[in-house]
Amino acid sequence: MSRQILVTAALPYANGHIHVGHLVEYIQTDIWVRFQKMRGHRCLFVCADDTHGTAIMIRARREGRSEEAVIADMREAHLRDFAGFQIEFDNYGSTNSPENRELCHQIWSAIRRRGLVRQKDVQQLFDPVVGTFLADRFVRGTCPRCGAADQPGDNCSSCSATYTPADLRDARSVLSNAIPEIRTAEHLFIELEQLHEFLQQWSQEGDHLQPEVARYLKGNFLGDPLRDWDVSRPAPYFGFEIPDHPGNYWYVWFDAPIGYMASTKEWCQRTGDDFNSWWSSESSAEIHHFIGKDITYFHTLFWPGMLKTADCNLPSRVHVHGFLTVGGEKMSKSRGTFLMASTWLRHLPPGAMRYYYASKLGPGLDDLDLNLEEFVARVNTDLVNKVVNLASRSAGFLAGQTLSDTYPDDGGLFGDGAARGELIAGFYEDCNYNAAIREIMALADRANKYVDERQPWVIRKDPTRSGELRDVCSVTLNLFRQIVVYLKPVLPELAQQTADLLNQPIEHWSDSQTPLTGTMVSPFQHLMKRLEMKQVEAMLEDSKQETAAEQTAAGSTPAPAGPTLHPADTWQDSGDALKNEPLAAECTIDDFTKVDLRVARVLEANHVEGANKLLQLTLSLGGGETRNVFAGIKAAYKPEDLVGRLVICVANLKPRQMKFGLSQGMICASGAGGAEVFLLSPDQGAVPGHRVH
Ligand code: 2FM
Ligand code: ZN
Repeated sequence: MSRQILVTAALPYANGHIHVGHLVEYIQTDIWVRFQKMRGHRCLFVCADDTHGTAIMIRARREGRSEEAVIADMREAHLRDFAGFQIEFDNYGSTNSPENRELCHQIWSAIRRRGLVRQKDVQQLFDPVVGTFLADRFVRGTCPRCGAADQPGDNCSSCSATYTPADLRDARSVLSNAIPEIRTAEHLFIELEQLHEFLQQWSQEGDHLQPEVARYLKGNFLGDPLRDWDVSRPAPYFGFEIPDHPGNYWYVWFDAPIGYMASTKEWCQRTGDDFNSWWSSESSAEIHHFIGKDITYFHTLFWPGMLKTADCNLPSRVHVHGFLTVGGEKMSKSRGTFLMASTWLRHLPPGAMRYYYASKLGPGLDDLDLNLEEFVARVNTDLVNKVVNLASRSAGFLAGQTLSDTYPDDGGLFGDGAARGELIAGFYEDCNYNAAIREIMALADRANKYVDERQPWVIRKDPTRSGELRDVCSVTLNLFRQIVVYLKPVLPELAQQTADLLNQPIEHWSDSQTPLTGTMVSPFQHLMKRLEMKQVEAMLEDSKQETAAEQTAAGSTPAPAGPTLHPADTWQDSGDALKNEPLAAECTIDDFTKVDLRVARVLEANHVEGANKLLQLTLSLGGGETRNVFAGIKAAYKPEDLVGRLVICVANLKPRQMKFGLSQGMICASGAGGAEVFLLSPDQGAVPGHRVH
């Protein structure tokens, strides 16, 4: 029976690029969707950019542009990356769309009508340097429950306690490192406790969740009264203003999941489909959400609660996956393993990653490790040596001819493979992709054994055996095609190439059940190249350089990382720098103001003959006022990369005659020296001549 299935993957934040960690989920989901479509189900895959919140607002300010401009650029980049990895959405929307605004209004009024909203004063942390209230994840400090250091403002990674940022001890803003001020504002809360009974039942019965997720909710949340959920944020905040609470905005996590509905709505408007047939409580459509384990709480408590209250269709299943590590460790910028999707695509084929992830993904929440040596070995062993090799060892002998008119005796191989179709399908259905891949590779092993035994390359030398050659190659190509049908959810491109080779489309799962006979074989084209470790090495190097360039472009102010970019990795500052160079003796404000620090633009930068460490810089303070400065930054910067950029210089330093000329100041930099020198830059908006206070 054909099912109607709506599938979503988590909406990526519009303030950052897609990286290999994100791709675990998008690839996992795309495989599932392609599988369902091949099975003949009516399956719709929607996603959108998650555009609201503090992070995007800060980024827009820093870049001196509107939030809409940032969103538009990032959307283009996201779509490019997704297309590059063959992730095919039926609709890709935005949470900043009119459809989403309208749906937020509708759901909000339902929640209001049912008496779930309550107003309370909240003490919220405010960053006095950046001038904004701080979203939970932009505050880090010590957990009030267990005392673990450097925890985010919403929940503790050590003891799982949930709290508000104001409860944190020794809190710091991750935007500016300032000590946040506490300010009081009126917030709106949803009383989740009123939905306790429903959530208890929904989460613990009916197979909506993986057993470990259901247990996690039971053990950590459902045993106690559910806390009220704070869904409003005072201005300044980039989001939708709450109609009955002007000057306040829905918290990004309120409108983000509604984005799933809004994206469906856009698709319905485009195709003339009925939105209610997907999302009304009367609908028989299944809804499947794929998410990472860090956002379980939102999708398994808040979201079903909102849907229930607004009388909407509830998720049939929330599929939760683990995180990605690279080489057994968190993705790291300095090691080059914080790999962006676009960097990967410049060096390695997308199918290789799709296959590798599929071969490691199971139905549980285990983290997945991208081990790059294993990756190369697995792709070469499985895809190049086993699968594609079947075609390369047979197709050439039949090019321009047709497959045998009746399917030859293959000792039951094709029939056995066909009989495994339902088992493999069951593994895909259960997101147990590694089990599916194991089965498929077992078929490839048997097919290769057949070829090894029948040796078509020997048969072809004997003209009297041409019929046998045709039969052996027809069997091999059919076994190959059967494997490719089973792999199509993972490797759509290989399926297309195979369809072209054998002049027969591969569309349905049932294409694995009947061998092809009598169809034309096209000239053989190379299907897949062996991967080389040096491609991986070049990619890592490229990635390191990209990160360095990004940091230089952003000056010394790191971009506030989106929460999915492992904030701990990004912000965990070891304290080594301070240990290596302890703080200087106290100085007075008068001492400090004696030093006149100014923003300056590098007009010229040159190598200095005979100097190993120095570059000569001509700095402009604006209005024709310049300074000649010799700076020990030669090992860290190329002159051509400096021209035009803004730096901070000590503008009133007594000039000093050096061997190479007169030095009229210094520029500010941090770091240990040598190649480890990092120039200071002002934020966007500063101009040459501005004094640094
Ligand atoms: O964690 C994240 O990356 C969020 N942008 C996911 C949102 S999913 C949905 F609820 F919108
Ligand atoms: Zn704790």
